[in-house]
Amino acid sequence: MDSELRKAGVTGVGSYVPEKVVTNYDLEDIVDTSDEWIRSRTGIEERRIAKEDATTSDLAYKAAESALNDADLSPEELDLILVATVTPDMMFPSTGCLLQDRLGATNAAAFDLEAGCSGFVYSISVATQFVRTGAYDNVLVIGAETLSKIINWEDRNTCVLFGDGAGAAVVQPVESGGVLSTVLGADGSGGELLKMPAGGSKRPASLETVKENLHYIHMEGNSVFKFAVRAMGKGAMKALEKADLEKKDVDFLIPHQANIRIIDGAAKRLNLDNDDVFVNLDKYGNTSAASIPIALAEAAEAGRINSGDNVVIVGFGAGLTWAASVIEWS
Ligand code: UT7
Repeated sequence: MDSELRKAGVTGVGSYVPEKVVTNYDLEDIVDTSDEWIRSRTGIEERRIAKEDATTSDLAYKAAESALNDADLSPEELDLILVATVTPDMMFPSTGCLLQDRLGATNAAAFDLEAGCSGFVYSISVATQFVRTGAYDNVLVIGAETLSKIINWEDRNTCVLFGDGAGAAVVQPVESGGVLSTVLGADGSGGELLKMPAGGSKRPASLETVKENLHYIHMEGNSVFKFAVRAMGKGAMKALEKADLEKKDVDFLIPHQANIRIIDGAAKRLNLDNDDVFVNLDKYGNTSAASIPIALAEAAEAGRINSGDNVVIVGFGAGLTWAASVIEWS
């Protein structure tokens, strides 16, 4: 990266998941599935589900508070709030603006970024550019989802996979290390594979769209799986190359938590042992844009990543999109 630019790093992290636990056994009572199927095909054992009246910004707020505390930063000092989500509180205003008001971040600009499950890594990339150029000093990046609100609880192909939660990171200038590279990718030709078909300009909400279940997640899991295996490996390798690093330089991998088989594939591609890969998929399922920041916060809190470690974060998702970044932890 251009040496005349500043360095940007992650200086605080935080996360929040709702209290309510729904196990695979609970789902056996709702759809034709089994704990054995879900566990063996995905690695998921349980997920957290938000209260009926809880919004994505409620979850985001708690994760944000925790990350700001960790970075020892007050909301008034924030220059920008970026919320990655596919489940905003409403189409507009943005969840970023709702959060800006609630935090009292009166000096911050705010917007949402929609790149499916890659949204957090995309947002880290955007935040990094603002900080490196000197445009902003203090950026709050959040991945937050209430996927339970767009799940068809009668569709066993999707309802067993997803959960709710939020994770946050503060991006600021750092003296050394920090975000060494970010790479972003998209293949819009795969957009049909993972979508919420109605509620936008193509199919505005109507009695028909509701009757046809078009306000729920629709996914061709197997095709997304194939894309994911390729994208995770390619993404991680490209991010390493851009940072002038090799596989042997990776200390820790934080992959998007969608399926343990996809995670194992990515770890194998990087020659990493299980100890060097963070997995909390068993507890939370796939929380889309929230999955990587929750994992990042939990890994940091558990002391699994240390100062000087090269941490790779990599994800894929609706769009289709993929994104990866190498962060030298400080
Ligand atoms: O973050 C991005 C979001 N998306 C993803 O990450 C999804 C990526 N894809 C996956 O993780 C996997 O493709 C799934 C876990 C979704 C599915 O695993 P799979 O090994 O690709 O299974 P499949 O879709 O090929 O389905 C195998 C069988 C089917 O039955 P038949 O046609 O073989 O009789 C499904 O109907 O498993 C059946 N099945 C289920 N059975 C029990 C699908 N869902 C369930 C279920 N319980 N919940």
